[in-house]
Amino acid sequence: MKTTFPVSRSGRFARGPGADVAQFTESISFDRRLWRHDLLGSLAHAAMLRKIGVLTRAEHAAIVKGMNAITREIEAGKFRWRPALEDVHMNLEAELTRRVPAGAKLHTGRSRNDQVALDLRLWLRDEIVALFGETTDLQRALVSLGEKYSDVLIPGYTHLQRAQPVYLAHHLLAYVEMLERDLHRLAGGFVRTNVCPLGSGALAGSTLPLKRELVAKLLGFVDDGGKPQLTQNSMDAVSDRDFAVEFCAAAALLAVHLSRLAEDVILWASAEFNFIRIADAYTTGSSLMPQKKNPDIAELARGKSGRVFGNLMALLTLLKGLPLTYNRDLQEDKERLFDTADTVRATVRIMAAMLRHTAVNRAACAAAAGDPALLATDLADYLVKKGMPFRQAHHAVGAVVALAEKTGKPLNRLTLAELQSVDKAFGRDALGVFDLKRAMAKRNLIGAPGTKEVAKQLARWREQLA
Ligand code: ARG
Repeated sequence: MKTTFPVSRSGRFARGPGADVAQFTESISFDRRLWRHDLLGSLAHAAMLRKIGVLTRAEHAAIVKGMNAITREIEAGKFRWRPALEDVHMNLEAELTRRVPAGAKLHTGRSRNDQVALDLRLWLRDEIVALFGETTDLQRALVSLGEKYSDVLIPGYTHLQRAQPVYLAHHLLAYVEMLERDLHRLAGGFVRTNVCPLGSGALAGSTLPLKRELVAKLLGFVDDGGKPQLTQNSMDAVSDRDFAVEFCAAAALLAVHLSRLAEDVILWASAEFNFIRIADAYTTGSSLMPQKKNPDIAELARGKSGRVFGNLMALLTLLKGLPLTYNRDLQEDKERLFDTADTVRATVRIMAAMLRHTAVNRAACAAAAGDPALLATDLADYLVKKGMPFRQAHHAVGAVVALAEKTGKPLNRLTLAELQSVDKAFGRDALGVFDLKRAMAKRNLIGAPGTKEVAKQLARWREQLA
C-alpha cells in the first residue's frame, strides 16, 4: 500500500492513510475553489502572528512573498493540487512550507476547523454580494420590459382562468417585489455571515494571546460602524453552518420565484397565449420537429429549482444530528452550498438576458385583454354604486353572464333591455363599464393595476434601481 503523510498526521501516526481512504476523505476536488479566501485568511492570520511576535519581520515577509507567488501560480493554472493532502487548507500550507520554512508557524493558534469556517464565510460574503448585483439586474430587466410595453394590457389570472385586466407591467412588477424580498433575506443573511470565527481554534480557542479583533478588521468582518464582528463562542463558531443554511434557504425562495416567472414565460410563449416572442438566440429547436421553438431557458430555470430545494434539505439533514463541535460530516456542506450559489446565480443571469431579448405581441395581448367578461366585476361594482348590496350585485351580474352565454353575445353587446330583464337597477350608462381604458383609470388604490398607479410604481422602481 502506497502511503503519503498529509500535514494533519502528527507524530502519533506510524503510517499515512491508504489510497482508498485518501480518496474517500479528500475534499480538494471541490474545496479548492476556496483557495483565494483561504490565502486571504492566512495573510490576515500571519499579520496578526507578526503583531504578537510569533513571526519575525523576516518570516512574515517571506510568508507573504511565498503566498503571493502561490497566488500567481494558481491564477496561471500552474499550481499542482495534491489529493493526498486532502483539502485546500493543507495543500496551500504544505506548499508554502515547502518553499518557506516559516510556513510551519502559520498554523499557530489555528485549526482547520476555524479555518474552514472562516473560508466559507469569506467566500459566501462575496457570493452574496455578487448574487445581489445579478438579482438587482434581473429586477431592472423586468422593469425595462414593463416600461417598454407600459400601455399593454393582459388578463390577470386566478386558477389560470381569465379574471380581471391588468397592465403587463403590473404582472412583471409582481416579480420585482418578490425579488426585492429575496434581496432583503440575502442581506439579512449577510449580516450573520459577516462574523469572524478565527481564534476559535479546533473548538476551544487558544492559550496564545491572539488578536481576534485585528484579524476581523483586516478581513472586513465589521459592522456598518466599523466595529469588528467576532463569534462569541468557540464551540458554536466551529460547528455553526447556520449562515450557509440561511443562504440556501433564501436562495431556495429565490428559486421558487424564478421558477414561477419561468412558468409564466413558458405559458406566454405558447401558441395558446402568444403574448411574447423570445428571441431565437434564447430559445432552442427540436431535433425532430422542424417548426418548434422551445423556451428551454425558462424550463431549465423552473427545473433547476428542484436541486436548490434539495441542497437546502441536504444541509438541514447534515446538521441535525451532529454533536458539538466539528465533525467531518461538515465537509459535505460545500458542494451543496456551491451548487446552490452557482445554480441561482446562473439562473438569475440568464433570465435577465432572456427578458432583454423578449418582445411582447401587442395584438395578442389586446385581443385577450379585450374580453369583456374580464370586467364583470366592474359591472357588479356599478350596481354597488347604485346602492345594491354586493352579494346581490354579484348574483345579478352572474345572471347577466348566463344570459350573454345563452344568447351567444359578448357581455358588452347585450342591450339595455336585456340587462334590465335581469335587474331594473341597470341604467343607460351600464355598458360604459366595458370601456377598458376607463376601467383601468379607475383602479388606483395603492398596489392596484390602475393606469396612474402602475406608472407610479414603474417610476418608483426605475428610481430605486438606478
Ligand atoms: N476539509 C475539511 C472540511 O471541509 C476541513 C476541516 C477538517 N478538519 C478536521 N478536523 N478534519 O470540513
